[in-house]
Amino acid sequence: MNIKQLADNFVMNTYSRFPLTFVDAKGVCLYDENGKEYLDFTSGIAVNALGYSNEAVLNAAKEQMEKFFHTSNLYYTEPMAKLAQKLVEKTCFDKVFYANSGAEANEAAFKLARKYGYLNKNGASKIISMKNSFHGRTLATVTLTGQEKYQKGFSPLVENVLYATFNNIESVKELISDDVCAIFVEPIQGEGGLLPAKPEFLKELRQICDDNNILLIFDEVQTGVGRTGKLYCYQNYDVEPDILTSAKALGCGMPIGAMMAKDFVANAFEPGNHASTFGGNPVACACANALIDEFDEKDILSNVNEVGVYLIEQLKTINSPNIKDIRGLGLMVGIELNTEVKDVVIKCMEKGLLVINAGAKVIRFVPPLVITKADVDKAISILKEVI
Ligand SMILES: Cc1ncc(COP(=O)(O)O)c(C=O)c1O
Repeated sequence: MNIKQLADNFVMNTYSRFPLTFVDAKGVCLYDENGKEYLDFTSGIAVNALGYSNEAVLNAAKEQMEKFFHTSNLYYTEPMAKLAQKLVEKTCFDKVFYANSGAEANEAAFKLARKYGYLNKNGASKIISMKNSFHGRTLATVTLTGQEKYQKGFSPLVENVLYATFNNIESVKELISDDVCAIFVEPIQGEGGLLPAKPEFLKELRQICDDNNILLIFDEVQTGVGRTGKLYCYQNYDVEPDILTSAKALGCGMPIGAMMAKDFVANAFEPGNHASTFGGNPVACACANALIDEFDEKDILSNVNEVGVYLIEQLKTINSPNIKDIRGLGLMVGIELNTEVKDVVIKCMEKGLLVINAGAKVIRFVPPLVITKADVDKAISILKEVI
């Protein structure tokens, strides 16, 4: 049996995988069993910020692995303490809770918001989320995810989650009451089709939250860690959330999630309220520390901004009546087509370019943050053939 057959026989059937098996990777490319090279504009779904085999991350992982892989949260370790310090110093938040994925970071935010409502707002427990959003696949986060296709078959969902329309402030106002403790929003809806929030929408959300003692929670699992040209996307918008969730790129491929909050919110949690055996894993945190140091030393964010603008410029040179819109921020970019993008994704793959969809009609480009203009040129020439 080859690897695909093995997996198809023994791994539970929850993903529709492409018929590709990767055996190696270097820089911004992956290699299949036959040695064929693929330029990776997916980064493992917005994860591999520094591409593959980044020396600093590799060395940080090795160094920590030679000491120990895991100790649990019964004890202190240097990587988790230092990473929290870095995240706090580079954001508007005061404290960090570690999880292992985006869904878990959101689950932690959900619980923290409920605990805040319990302590500070007469038990307010309602949470407003946005239609067309994506927040994960656990029961609470799939409830937050405002798309029926992800929820179907899993009822009853978690109680007291309400849905507003993204970028429509009136729809949010209609749901506000004394029972609401938090509003969840992605600053750019990723899975929903790469739709950026309007700056006024986020500003007005902030105002509503301030006026009603409601927590503003940004899910930056996909937009975070440099993807949009700032460490976190809220820094582009000049709106500070009270809680922010991060995962995906944070560990450069090692599983890690973080839920960050301002002290007045974080204080609602006390020992015993929330926990994770693996949360703050030393190897994952060592990788995240190395990533943030690389951001500083190599000025990765300037590359994101420069190459991101170049990518959009070049996409605009593709002359096709099938293109409806080109949009994005930094290296989180999408082309909306008039038709479904499934075939385009497969044809690009056959020609050695990996891209993914975001919703049915958007091709999503979330390459490693270290790609060059030459990589963009290569991708564009394949796209021009395919679209
Ligand atoms: C905005 C957002 N939130 C949460 C998640 C869930 O993250 P994970 O798959 O790590 O649980 C995702 C994953 O795509 C996401 O894009």
